[in-house]
Amino acid sequence: MTTGKPRFAGKSMVVTGAAQGIGRQVALEAAAGGAHLTLVDRSPLVNDVARQINSDYGQGQAIAVEANLETWAGNEEAMERANRMYGCIDIAINNVGGAIWMKPFQNFDEDQLIAEINRSLYPTLWGCRAALPYMIEQGRGAIVNVSSVATKGVNRVPYSAAKGAVNALTASLALEVGTKNIRINAVAPGGTTAPPRAVPRGTEPLSAQDKIWMQEVVDQTVHSSHMKRYGLLREMSAAILFLASDEASYITGTVLPVGGGDQG
Ligand SMILES: NC(=O)c1ccc[n+]([C@@H]2O[C@H](COP(=O)([O-])OP(=O)(O)OC[C@H]3O[C@@H](n4cnc5c(N)ncnc54)[C@H](O)[C@@H]3O)[C@@H](O)[C@H]2O)c1
Repeated sequence: MTTGKPRFAGKSMVVTGAAQGIGRQVALEAAAGGAHLTLVDRSPLVNDVARQINSDYGQGQAIAVEANLETWAGNEEAMERANRMYGCIDIAINNVGGAIWMKPFQNFDEDQLIAEINRSLYPTLWGCRAALPYMIEQGRGAIVNVSSVATKGVNRVPYSAAKGAVNALTASLALEVGTKNIRINAVAPGGTTAPPRAVPRGTEPLSAQDKIWMQEVVDQTVHSSHMKRYGLLREMSAAILFLASDEASYITGTVLPVGGGDQG
């Protein structure tokens, strides 16, 4: 049996998109590890996750911030709130993203292409930009960006492009700040089994054709995995929290695929 303090004891950690799915799982496990969390989401459901942590998670604690992270201002506000509450930002997990539509590229219109990039690139680009000044000032920090193995995948080209950009900004920013004791990494999840989404990715009901295109995505995802299955939420959070932790102190600039062998 190991004893000693939990691995995130007293660490100020921002988790975005924490109302559900992978972000919520990361938040709950970080809380179990003693983290002092700032949970950010545009859904008010994020308040329920903070309440759950504050009532059930011992040393872990959380505040909730409702913000639109597709904006510069939303990210600035989130990081400012975290710093005001805990006096620093040790770790930032930029998790907001997700394909809104799944269909062949020629079927995306202009507004949809912009919406996909806004959803899956800007929250991470702004999030890194907003967290970095605090980390430079502190002389330490770790950022984990949540990417996807769908950088190579059918029926979601704009999402692939956004996540490819997340990987590029992770690599370049890590190079820029490597001597400042700040690590920047990404985890690229594969398809992940999760409860039905309380907050849907899109607002439109799926047509019969949309369901066929979505099934093509599921089939491609399972086929591309060597293990021929989806991953679990805890399999994603384990990798994200490893890269966020001091155990990964000599790892930076890495994109870690967590896709059962699918490298993206
Ligand atoms: N679920 C998967 O199968 C899978 C696979 C590969 C990669 N990923 C990536 O993992 C991350 C999390 O995926 P998920 O499926 O758990 O997400 P999800 O769609 O279930 O939840 C996303 C959360 O982000 C919030 N959000 C969305 N836009 C926001 C905005 N503009 N401002 C603030 N909050 C916003 C939503 O309210 C929601 O709570 C995403 O980056 C996604 O691309 C997921």
